[in-house]
Amino acid sequence: MQGTWFGKTAVISGGSRGLGLHLAKELAKQRAHLILIGRDAGNLNSQAAVLSGMGASSVDCFACDAVEIEQCGEYRARIEKDGVDLLINAIGVSDRGKIEQLQLADLESQFRSNVLAGWAMTKCTIPSLKRNQGCVVNIGSLAGLVGTPNMGAYCITKFAWTALSRQWRMELEQDGIHILLVSPGPIAREDSEHRYDELISARGIDSKGASKPGGGAKLKRIDPALLSQRILSAATRRDRELVIPWKARILAAIFSISPKLGEYLLRRNLDR
Ligand SMILES: NC(=O)c1ccc[n+]([C@@H]2O[C@H](COP(=O)([O-])OP(=O)(O)OC[C@H]3O[C@@H](n4cnc5c(N)ncnc54)[C@H](OP(=O)(O)O)[C@@H]3O)[C@@H](O)[C@H]2O)c1
Repeated sequence: MQGTWFGKTAVISGGSRGLGLHLAKELAKQRAHLILIGRDAGNLNSQAAVLSGMGASSVDCFACDAVEIEQCGEYRARIEKDGVDLLINAIGVSDRGKIEQLQLADLESQFRSNVLAGWAMTKCTIPSLKRNQGCVVNIGSLAGLVGTPNMGAYCITKFAWTALSRQWRMELEQDGIHILLVSPGPIAREDSEHRYDELISARGIDSKGASKPGGGAKLKRIDPALLSQRILSAATRRDRELVIPWKARILAAIFSISPKLGEYLLRRNLDR
């Protein structure tokens, strides 16, 4: 298959699992050159073999903490070689708990994963993106548009990620770099229903909804393969923001105009 990303160079941070891996698979089918970032070298290498088998023109893997990407000389040399057409920042860790229970260390660790990893990846890649007039896809969340209870530090850090994406888009426009912010609701995964069980029992959270994807928001789980296709199409069109499902965009707008009505509508749609 020769799609829009045929022969283009795409970096996917967090490309070895979850949504990042689904995006890598879509790009592999389009025969893009892939560069994957993750910490687990063994998993990166086994996913690289799968992606090559699916048609990727090349796959290079760099096992490192994305926050420290600047220190990875091999990554810098690789992106200087051909420039970068697409950078997907897919690293992110969800959380559960009440703000009152948060420890400073939890907040710092969430900020590191959900903001600093993408900030460091983008900062390091800017010269190569500039060269190819590339696009950055920042994977955010509905939790970065609407404050939902029992999400620990996730909403705090995802709102910060939204702010960073919007500010950076305006600053990078003059260099020909585009930023697409993607804010999806809960994505279907095999471990969806039990992903937070340990955290919830450790923190003694008594909300039924908190254990569920999206903190109990009554939303249909999104198919990650279809989501990946929509994200890549939006990046091709250089859309600014992609919110899925679309009705969440209306809820975010209502929150800005009338927080009282926004909270009422959100509560009605939360499984508590
Ligand atoms: N899952 C959902 O329902 C959902 C809903 C809305 C939005 N999102 C957002 O979508 C994105 C992907 O979520 P996911 O649940 O699919 O993720 P995931 O399955 O937990 O995968 C995370 C990926 O990031 C890598 N990673 C994590 N920390 C890293 C670091 N410091 N340095 C380098 N690599 C790192 C992981 O590999 P290693 O462990 O090997 O490092 C892995 O490849 C996140 O931004 C998340 O907030 C998810």
